[in-house]
Amino acid sequence: MITGRTRVFGIIADPVHHVRTPQVMNDYFAAHRVDAVMVPLNVARGDVETVLEAVRRLPNVGGLIVTVPHKAAVVPLCDEAGEQARLIGAANAIRRTADGRLVCDMFDGKGFLGGLLAQGIDPKGQRVLLLGAGGAASAIAFALAGHGVAALTIANRTRDKARDLAARVAAAVPSCLATDGPPDPAGHDLVVNATSLGLKADDPLPLDAGALERGTTVAEIIMQPERTALIEAAEARGCRVHAGRHMLDEQIRLLAEFLGADRAEAA
Ligand code: ATR
Repeated sequence: MITGRTRVFGIIADPVHHVRTPQVMNDYFAAHRVDAVMVPLNVARGDVETVLEAVRRLPNVGGLIVTVPHKAAVVPLCDEAGEQARLIGAANAIRRTADGRLVCDMFDGKGFLGGLLAQGIDPKGQRVLLLGAGGAASAIAFALAGHGVAALTIANRTRDKARDLAARVAAAVPSCLATDGPPDPAGHDLVVNATSLGLKADDPLPLDAGALERGTTVAEIIMQPERTALIEAAEARGCRVHAGRHMLDEQIRLLAEFLGADRAEAA
């Protein structure tokens, strides 16, 4: 039951109607008897600063989950950023401290890798094609690099961002490179879609599915729809698939802990 004591958390996104996080987080609060609620907030790009300013001034707001397209924008607007957020330049959670300071951090990388491993897919030693170079893709690139993939190829619509990310990751994976051409999945063990293509029903596929090989695993970070066009196309090609929901499921405990909403308060 929501009362005057209930702590409020938000998830900011644009669009927001597709996000699964409120449902999963509110189930978590109920299961752990945490007196908190998470609500979706549709925030346009130009309004992020105003919304964070409002959070500073609302003592019963405990923080925010941050998703597309705000993950990079929030980092310089917070008072403090955790190690992952600083390394990646993007964050997916913001905690409001009791004195109204905002602390952000990034859990997408750990969540994605943990989700893969939980499904028995271990990218260690594998050749990986990563589609995207935004906030989530950067987090995933560093997580895969830290886990010891053999090679990482990054493809992105804006090529400079792919080059920049590849250069930063190359310290950990010397074979990391950005591709200038269209993404070619041939010869890769794992393909990860970390673009936002697939969120909308009329989005094109992020790569030519006809080029997918049977032995390749195709992982998605889009959670809604659960079966994206890419997942369907990859399955039709005989590939193993990994749905986006695993990344969130794996992160929920970490996010709740970071936001200070992982256990019931003492009465
Ligand atoms: P997130 O934080 O979830 O990663 P983001 O930082 O906005 O969100 O990144 C979105 C990713 O999807 C980017 O790689 C973006 O490509 P650009 O860097 O060129 O913007 C990619 N993306 C979004 N819309 C796209 C489209 N229509 N075609 C191809 N890539 C797209």
